Amino acid sequence: MEIVDLSDGYVSTYLSCLEDWSEEMREAGDHKAHWYDKMKDRGLRVKLALDEDRRAVGMIQYLPIEESIALGQDLFMVLCIWVHGYRQGVGNHQGRGIGSALLAAAEEDARDLGAKGVAAWGVTLPFWMRSSWFKKHGYETAERAEGRELVWKRFTHDAEAPRWISSGPIPQPVTGQVTMSSFLSGWCPAMNLVHERAKRAAAELGPPVVFVSVDTSEPAAMRQHGHTDAVFLDGKPLQRGAPPSYDAIKKRTSKHVRRVKRS
Ligand SMILES: CC(C)(COP(=O)(O)OP(=O)(O)OC[C@H]1O[C@@H](n2cnc3c(N)ncnc32)[C@H](O)[C@@H]1OP(=O)(O)O)[C@@H](O)C(=O)NCCC(=O)NCCS
Repeated sequence: MEIVDLSDGYVSTYLSCLEDWSEEMREAGDHKAHWYDKMKDRGLRVKLALDEDRRAVGMIQYLPIEESIALGQDLFMVLCIWVHGYRQGVGNHQGRGIGSALLAAAEEDARDLGAKGVAAWGVTLPFWMRSSWFKKHGYETAERAEGRELVWKRFTHDAEAPRWISSGPIPQPVTGQVTMSSFLSGWCPAMNLVHERAKRAAAELGPPVVFVSVDTSEPAAMRQHGHTDAVFLDGKPLQRGAPPSYDAIKKRTSKHVRRVKRS
């Protein structure tokens, strides 16, 4: 196994989070590609773990916190670390130290770039990327909010802890219509997938469903709206865990449509 920087030949596999085989990745659209085009010149760093056949089996992406989903100074923020864990494609490579090697390589790189520390995030429930994994690697809690935990490791004494951006107002229901509001930054295909499914459901159901999309790919926009990636249906979050299926989104939205039509 070797840790390398992202190079041109691996960009498409990186954009699909190493899941070139996945139909869902295609369904998630090209939002990550647009985000990557913007952020690659603004300090985004990507490292890949290659196996002996030079297939990408793990990745870590991190960027200056000032360009990220959290607030802080002179830190790098790990947006995502992922070691391929499915049977399909390159197969399951988790639990063999690849994640630890990727994190160590990113930390070393951040130090070399003059960062005062590294921040990361995870969930506090036992699914997805748990923040506990970073804590095993010496990270401390900076802040917790709604099941998500922001963690960090300082390199210098004068480093300041990162913070979550303050939550902004949730778009409220509008009489006579069903409102789907999607805040989308583009960096995460799982979030992009929910956005695309919601947009498709809204288009298929038609009026009174109104789909409103807010571009939060610029950190200033995230901070202004107080949301990075989230879809709200009449003021309620559409997602509370893994991405809901298209059918589940359409069914839930249809209920709102019936309610509006009855009133
Ligand atoms: C967490 C992760 C990066 C670790 O990489 P890895 O190569 O499997 O890890 P290592 O071999 O270095 O370490 C293994 C440890 O990670 C733990 N681990 C595995 N998946 C985990 C997860 N999702 N959260 C927390 N810990 C996890 C294992 O239990 C093991 O713990 P142990 O050392 O106490 O036995 C990897 O397992 C992974 O990608 N998991 C899925 C995370 C995810 O959903 N990411 C979001 C993608 S968008």
